[in-house]
Amino acid sequence: MAFELLITFVSPDMADRVRSKERVMAWLESIGRTDIVEGVIDGVETELTDVESDTGLTTDERLAASPVALFDESEGVSRELWRELHNEFGAEVRANIHEITDDSWQRCWRESFTEFRTGKFFIAPLGDALTTPDGLIRVEIDAAGGAFGTGQHATTRAIIEMLETKLPSWSPKSVLDVGTGTGIYLILCHHLGVSRLAGTEISEDLVELAQANCDAAGVTADIRLADTPEFTESFDLIIANILVPVLHDLMPAIVALLASGGRLIVAGFVDKEEGPLVAKAQKHGLQVESVTSENGWKCVVLRV
Ligand SMILES: C[S@@+](CC[C@H](N)C(=O)[O-])C[C@H]1O[C@@H](n2cnc3c(N)ncnc32)[C@H](O)[C@@H]1O
Repeated sequence: MAFELLITFVSPDMADRVRSKERVMAWLESIGRTDIVEGVIDGVETELTDVESDTGLTTDERLAASPVALFDESEGVSRELWRELHNEFGAEVRANIHEITDDSWQRCWRESFTEFRTGKFFIAPLGDALTTPDGLIRVEIDAAGGAFGTGQHATTRAIIEMLETKLPSWSPKSVLDVGTGTGIYLILCHHLGVSRLAGTEISEDLVELAQANCDAAGVTADIRLADTPEFTESFDLIIANILVPVLHDLMPAIVALLASGGRLIVAGFVDKEEGPLVAKAQKHGLQVESVTSENGWKCVVLRV
C-alpha cells in the first residue's frame, strides 16, 4: 500500500502552468524529493502524449505542464508534503492524496526501467538475468527509490547516445557529471576511456546510490554531496541534465570549472527554454556546438 500525492498545475494560461511546474519541481528537488514521477495518475502511468490530448496543445506543451506524482508509504508524510506545497505555492497548484492499494506504482517504476541496448552498451537493472548480446559492454544500474538516470527518459538516452558517438573524437581525460542521479554517465565514460571522473548531487541518498553503482562496476569516481560544484581542478567535459532554473543558477560555477577548449552538455529542457539558457551560456563565454532534440527534449553541446 502507498499514498500518491498528485500535483496538477491549474493556471488557465499554459506559460504560467509550465512556470509553476518548473518552480514546484525545483522546490521538490531542493527539499531532497527527487523521486518525482511525471504523468502518473492514481498510480497508473499515463502516456504523456495522452495527458490533456483534447486541448489542442502541442506535445511539448503537454509534456511541460503534465501532472507529477510522489509516492510514500506513510499517509502522514504525504499530508505533510501537501501542507508544505500549499504554504509554498497556494492556489497555483492543486494537490490530492490517493491511496494506492496495489503495487501498481512500483510496477510502473520497475517496468519503466527494462534493459536496453545502445551502439556500444547493454544497460540493465541490477541483477538482470538476460545475457549480454555479443560485442556490447554490460552496464548494470541500481535505480533504487525511483532514482533518475536509467536511460528510460529521453534526456538520459540523448546524452548516452552523444557520449558514445562523440567521446572517441573528443577524447576528454576528465568528466564532471552535475546531478549525477544513478551515476550512469560516470560508468559509461569510464568504459569510453575517461580517466578522471567526478559527480555532484544534492541528494545524500543518490550520492550513496551513485557511489554504490560505480563501486559495483569497478569505477573510481569522486562523487560529492553539493548544490554547487566546486573542485580545484578543471574538467574537459561537464554534463548537466537538470531542471532549467537550476541550470541557470549553476551556469557560472559550471563554466568556471571548464578547461580551456572544454565542452558542456546540457539537457533537461524543452524548446522554448533553449534560447534563454543558451543566451546565459554565451554571456559566460560559451559557444553552441550542436543542438539535438528527442521527444521534445533538447540536448545542447557548448564549447569554451
Ligand atoms: C534529471 S536528474 C538527472 C540524473 C542523471 N544525471 C541523468 O541524466 O539521467 C537531475 C538530478 O540532479 C540532481 N540535482 C538537482 N539540483 C542539483 C544541484 N544543484 N546540484 C547537484 N545535483 C542536483 C537531482 O537530485 C537529480 O538526481
